[in-house]
Amino acid sequence: MHGTDRSAERAPSKSNAAPVTVERITHQDVPEICALYRRVWEAPGDAAGVPNELVKSWQPTPLEFTSWMEGVTYFAARREGRLLGVVGCEVAHGNCHLLHLAVEPDARRAGVASALVAAGVEWAKHASAVEVWADALARFPAAVALFKHLGFTECGVLHKHEWNEDVRLFERIL
Ligand SMILES: CC(C)(COP(=O)(O)OP(=O)(O)OC[C@H]1O[C@@H](n2cnc3c(N)ncnc32)[C@H](O)[C@@H]1OP(=O)(O)O)[C@@H](O)C(=O)NCCC(=O)NCCS
Repeated sequence: MHGTDRSAERAPSKSNAAPVTVERITHQDVPEICALYRRVWEAPGDAAGVPNELVKSWQPTPLEFTSWMEGVTYFAARREGRLLGVVGCEVAHGNCHLLHLAVEPDARRAGVASALVAAGVEWAKHASAVEVWADALARFPAAVALFKHLGFTECGVLHKHEWNEDVRLFERIL
C-alpha cells in the first residue's frame, strides 16, 4: 500500500473464492462507487427505520462523491474486478476517521469490510496517525459487531446526533 497510489493489498478469502483486493480509488471508479452506495442503501433491511435525510445523504451523485474525495482517501475492495465495498479514510490531527464504509449486500460476511478496515489502518500508520476511529448509527448491529470484532473499543455515544439518531463511536489505538 505504501509508496504508490494504487498498489494492491490482498486479504485472504474465507472460501475457495478468489482473494479480495483492496486499492485506492481513482476518479474513474466514481460512477461505479455511487452505484454501489445506491444498491446498499436501497436494499431492504439496511436502511430500515433510518431517517430519509440520512439514507439520501449516503447515496451521493458522482459530483457529490467527487467533493467527498477532497481530503479523504477512499479504498475499494474487489474480487476478480467486481467492486464489493468502499471505505474512506480522513487523516487529521494525528488520527484517522473511517467513513462511508459499505459492502455489497450479496458479498457480506466474507471479510470484505475487514479487508477495507485493514487497508484504512495501514493508511493511518503510513500517515503517522496514532488512532483510528469510526462511528456508526446505534441501530446498525452489523457495523457495531464489525468494529468490536476488529479490536475497536466503543468509546462513546452521541445522542440524537444525526437526524435524531444515536451514533456510537469506536476507536483503536495504533
Ligand atoms: C457493516 C458491514 C460493512 C460489514 O461488512 P462485511 O464485509 O459483511 O464484514 P466482514 O465480513 O468483514 O465481518 C467481519 C466480522 O464482523 C462481524 N460482523 C459483520 N457483520 C455482522 C452481522 N451482520 N452480524 C453479526 N456480526 C457481524 C463478525 O464478527 C464478522 O466475522 P464472521 O463473519 O467471521 O463472524 C456491512 O454489513 C454493510 O455494508 N452494512 C451496511 C452499511 C453499514 O452499516 N456501514 C457501516 C456504517 S459505519
